[in-house]
Amino acid sequence: MTTDALLDLDRKHLIHPVAAWRGHEQRGTTVLASGHDGVWLRDIHGKEVLDAFAGLWCVNIGYGHESVVQAAAEQMRKLPYATGYFGFGSEPAIRLAAKLAEIAPKSLRHTYLTLGGSEAVDAAIRLITHYYNATGRPQKKHFIAIERGYHGSSSVGSGLTALPAFHRGFDVPLPNQHYIASPYPYRSPVGDDPQAVIAASVAALRAKVAELGADNVAAFFCEPVQGSGGVIVPPKGWLKAMREASRELGILFVVDEVITGFGRTGPMFACLAEDVEPDLMTMAKGLTSGYVPMGALMISDEVYNGIADGAAPNVLVGHGATYSGHPVSAAVALEVIRLYEEGGILAHAQAMEPGFAAGLGEMLDHPLVGDVRHRGLLGAVELVADKASKRAFDPALGLADRLFRSGYQNGLIFRSFGDHILGFAPALCFTEDNFAQLFARLKRTLDEVLDAPDVRRALA
Ligand SMILES: Cc1ncc(COP(=O)(O)O)c(C=O)c1O
Repeated sequence: MTTDALLDLDRKHLIHPVAAWRGHEQRGTTVLASGHDGVWLRDIHGKEVLDAFAGLWCVNIGYGHESVVQAAAEQMRKLPYATGYFGFGSEPAIRLAAKLAEIAPKSLRHTYLTLGGSEAVDAAIRLITHYYNATGRPQKKHFIAIERGYHGSSSVGSGLTALPAFHRGFDVPLPNQHYIASPYPYRSPVGDDPQAVIAASVAALRAKVAELGADNVAAFFCEPVQGSGGVIVPPKGWLKAMREASRELGILFVVDEVITGFGRTGPMFACLAEDVEPDLMTMAKGLTSGYVPMGALMISDEVYNGIADGAAPNVLVGHGATYSGHPVSAAVALEVIRLYEEGGILAHAQAMEPGFAAGLGEMLDHPLVGDVRHRGLLGAVELVADKASKRAFDPALGLADRLFRSGYQNGLIFRSFGDHILGFAPALCFTEDNFAQLFARLKRTLDEVLDAPDVRRALA
């Protein structure tokens, strides 16, 4: 099929996720054709680009791992599908749940397997609701999340997401969904002092719970680093402080590690860095490194037993899906986790963090850059029109699209957020050479954008 024919069919038939539908029709798709050597993507025109975003912060092991392909193929040959309904199960799904219990924070003993992050968040909301009903506290129905947070786009989970595009026209947030301010050191009203940022979040959570009444609040949801909100990195100690506050307030503490899990921020899970034990945890992306779809919700004994003992042994807990615990996805996840651990990928990423941090730090000298931040191999560069006042660029300049296009022309993929934050989530196999290429291409891209007369005029 010719490229033009493919692009035409895309316009006519394929709805893209989180896209401006008419804008997409005009611009057309950049068709990706192959990925190789961990970090490289090739498009349908043969152009090679360095993927500094691991697909959608998911291909943590990188492209081209033959052992993963083999694990999937073997499982497909042996048993391509097994339902988890009617008392059936499959070995990969059982082994994966046990493996997750081994590597996750100790509090998390039980796993429900999903197809991705949104479905894991949706399962969390449904099971929390069920838990409080089953344990005789049906009034505990309010959920608190964080401004700029992202928890997927299911019909209820999208209301815990606090980004305007996910609310506009979708009738969320619901009346029982609430937010506190983002722990955003660069733009926090309390300044960037770590203890002040932490204290402000704890106070905001306490105030919100007091406003709603502790007896009415079910849970607090957070990401250890806010990903889609612009890679907002809270100070170290923040997650632990929010865990303790939630415990004191008598509400469930739910950590969404869909991005931060599986080595993205250094350890296997961000919770482990601060010895945090959540009541529930969601994960996806790095679980299978994007080779096949899968997510998971893990829950504590307390939540599990509350639901299990809430009804007679033969009464169904009506939450499920055809592909929960899909054996091919589970087989892939087991191999991917083996690569993180025995394959040395996590250790390699930890060794690369100082170089990544140094490269980001050098970007601060650039006239467009107001802030850089990172945790592990998850980072951001925030562009401002005036470094002293932190004034943002006028969205009318269309800078986000221009930066993305210019980056691509320079052979680099990063996330270009609408508010002029550039997000980076390189595969955990990035080498020193790859990082050198990343920062050289990024600098070229920023220089090109800086050269544009309208951008120069917008600078203070
Ligand atoms: C923190 C977080 N939660 C949930 C989701 C939703 O996951 P999915 O896109 O797999 O549905 C994402 C996706 O980016 C995410 O970053």
